[in-house]
Amino acid sequence: MKTIVYRIILSLSVVVLPIFAVGNDASAEPNVPFKFALGKTKYLESCSVCHGPRLEGSKQGPPLMHDYYKPSHHNDDAFYRAALQGVHAHHWQFGDMPKIKGITPKDMDAIIPFIRWLQHEKGLF
Ligand code: HEC
Repeated sequence: MKTIVYRIILSLSVVVLPIFAVGNDASAEPNVPFKFALGKTKYLESCSVCHGPRLEGSKQGPPLMHDYYKPSHHNDDAFYRAALQGVHAHHWQFGDMPKIKGITPKDMDAIIPFIRWLQHEKGLF
């Protein structure tokens, strides 16, 4: 009887332990601090279709998690300009970035710190 119980416990741990391990996956998204939550929401609404939910890029736009877009290469002004005025394609082959409809400088006041926080969190700078 005892051995059967041990076997059950053993087989359960084989199934259950990997499920817990997923929570420690280093590639998982870090928890977003409250002060960046609004920026994240607005980023997901207005930017992520092209730049990806985790800044990883998509078929329609480049990754913002890229050396080109570190603060030392594209400062915050470039981010305001891109969203409010659009960008002519110059680094990539995705075509122009359109001016983003409905985006205000105030929205960008929230979006940019979220992007910078995630870039920094992931070790880009
Ligand atoms: C319709 C797709 C699309 C959306 C939506 C979009 N972008 Fe872009 N974005 C692009 C593409 C394509 C480029 C690359 C242009 C190039 O080739 O350099 C780009 C480039 C940029 C750049 C670099 C600008 C520069 O000076 O080179 C920044 C910063 C940027 N996007 C920020 C944003 C932010 C912030 C948002 C949301 C408010 C956003 N984008 C939404 C497609 C998009």
